[in-house]
Amino acid sequence: MDDTSYFIGLGNNDTVTRKKAGQDYVKFWEAEARNLHWFEKWNDVLDWNPPFARWFVNGKINASYNALDVQCNKNGKKVAILWEGENGDRRSITYQELLNYVCKVANTLKSLGVKKGDRVTVYLPMIPELIVSMLACARIGAIHTVIFSGFSSQSIRDRVIDSKSKVIITADGGFRRGEIVKLKQVIDEAVSDLDFVEHILVYEHTKTPVHMGKKDSPWNSLVNGALEQCEPEKLDSTHPLYILYTSGTTGKPKGVLHGTGGYLVHLYSTFKWIFDIRDTDIYFCTADIGWVTGHSYVVYAPLMHGATQVIFEGALVFPTPARIWDLVERYKITILYTTPTALRMFMKYGDSLPNSKDLSSLRLLGTVGEPINPQVWKWYFKTIGKEKCPIIDTWWQTETGGALVSPMPGVETITLKPGSATLPLPGINVSVVDEHGNDLPPETKGYLVVTKPWPGMLLSLWNDDEKYKTVYWSKYKSMYYPGDYAIMDKDGYLWMLGRADDVLKVAGHRLGTAEIESGFVSHKSVAEAAVCGIPHEVKGESIIVFLVLKEGVVQSKQLEDELIQHIRNVVGPIATPDHLYIVSKLPKTRSGKIMRRLLKSVASNEQIGDISTLEDEAAIDDIRTAFAELQNTIQKN
Ligand code: WTA
Repeated sequence: MDDTSYFIGLGNNDTVTRKKAGQDYVKFWEAEARNLHWFEKWNDVLDWNPPFARWFVNGKINASYNALDVQCNKNGKKVAILWEGENGDRRSITYQELLNYVCKVANTLKSLGVKKGDRVTVYLPMIPELIVSMLACARIGAIHTVIFSGFSSQSIRDRVIDSKSKVIITADGGFRRGEIVKLKQVIDEAVSDLDFVEHILVYEHTKTPVHMGKKDSPWNSLVNGALEQCEPEKLDSTHPLYILYTSGTTGKPKGVLHGTGGYLVHLYSTFKWIFDIRDTDIYFCTADIGWVTGHSYVVYAPLMHGATQVIFEGALVFPTPARIWDLVERYKITILYTTPTALRMFMKYGDSLPNSKDLSSLRLLGTVGEPINPQVWKWYFKTIGKEKCPIIDTWWQTETGGALVSPMPGVETITLKPGSATLPLPGINVSVVDEHGNDLPPETKGYLVVTKPWPGMLLSLWNDDEKYKTVYWSKYKSMYYPGDYAIMDKDGYLWMLGRADDVLKVAGHRLGTAEIESGFVSHKSVAEAAVCGIPHEVKGESIIVFLVLKEGVVQSKQLEDELIQHIRNVVGPIATPDHLYIVSKLPKTRSGKIMRRLLKSVASNEQIGDISTLEDEAAIDDIRTAFAELQNTIQKN
């Protein structure tokens, strides 16, 4: 822990205080809900039937109406999106243009037979059409399920099968580091034989030739001819807005299901408190929309506030590492929200790049997705923010919908501590507890829990209420278990210490070790696989895999390359391991569970602790031998 403190903030607004919210969190959120547009008011703020929460029961609302029409009724000429492609292409889209475009796509979806409650899978690069597709679904009450473009065919197939999407929206390709990622081709491999997929809508972005089959329709030909008006569906507050698949401790990704009313209220309020959003701001969140940060704090929250934001497709260090700072300078970005991985990468290129640019427009700097190292926090504060911008470290998850722990420069002036996400937001109740659920004294490492429901919380897991109960509500009775370690210091500040389970955070991407293991085991030569993460200077964690080959399979460099290619194809490039070790046995407990902790220690060259539960101690020696051999090979080359 770092004890340097920075006293910083923008003001005091005593209408929203943690203390007031704490007196009656239900009443507090009810007051916040009045900031949104409702077609009909709720008759019950919270129906809490543990572990299922229904917020603003019987209220009628539409997410796209709150994101677009509300702003258009004030000033539709305001710019919503300043888009820049990796190749330098630019587009500027006003709120009115965005609303018209969304209505056209909503009408197109209707013409393809999409109805309220149907699922639509969206697999697009970071282009305005991604936002348009999501809002078009929201307008007609269809449930969008966006898949990050770094996932490939098998991952997509699993998700499309689980959600039973009737329509898929994709593009010919996307740009990444000067290359074209062929998205339509991946979709063809993933879903071409699935009967329930009725239509695939293909947007032409990179002008890459694609195969157009009988289910495929070009976006332009359908959308251009559609009507620019589409009445928003008046949806129940608890109507599902989207499914977002995320990794957990089991092989199959979980479909996190978010509702509409509660989720939007959570986002509207947190965005205002955290980013102190003002009419003149130029906001830039670098997250991909394929992850929750993009859903919540690129799509829904900024649009509900009528904000102007920069959207960028591609890598922030391409074609030169100065790209990110060029964007800040050119668009006069005032609020930057990014990840510790991105910051560590920018920091590696030294101070001269940011120092050579005009970053004086910046006033707030945010971070999300992983614990931020205090030295990176300080670099962000000093080199980028020139000691005048608060660093807003926001802790949350796909499941929480929006931020739960964060400083609130829009509301109060508080002391920041580098590396701490500070305090729970108003109306949010958290604790740090031991294995048995007892509150721990300050400065003690334990598990973070959320003790009361909050509006952005997931409704359930798609089609799996039982799993929802087991994953989040079985470790502790009536407390939500996020799966993170944390410490609360004597001032009540929270220090997030990373995952307590087998979930990895690699370059900010959430991946389950079990998901990667199943990917490897699906290769014909692999008998067993074990994956662990070890600390990495830039990416936070890197993926290490240990494989046992099937009887008779001969190890070779060619096979190793094939295995790497296999995981890239089945899970996606984001699951590429940094090291792959072939061993003859894996260390397991007597009950047959792979001891990942042990693999982690071996891979990080650490001392191995208690191994008394090991079935066959020789396995560690196997791994050590394989590891030593590989280190020799690496050193020799
Ligand atoms: C981690 C991302 C430390 C945490 C929004 C959590 C963080 C997981 C922070 C969720 C933070 C997120 N400090 N750790 N500020 N924010 N995490 O679902 O381990 O992709 O459980 O949501 O990211 O990842 P997810």
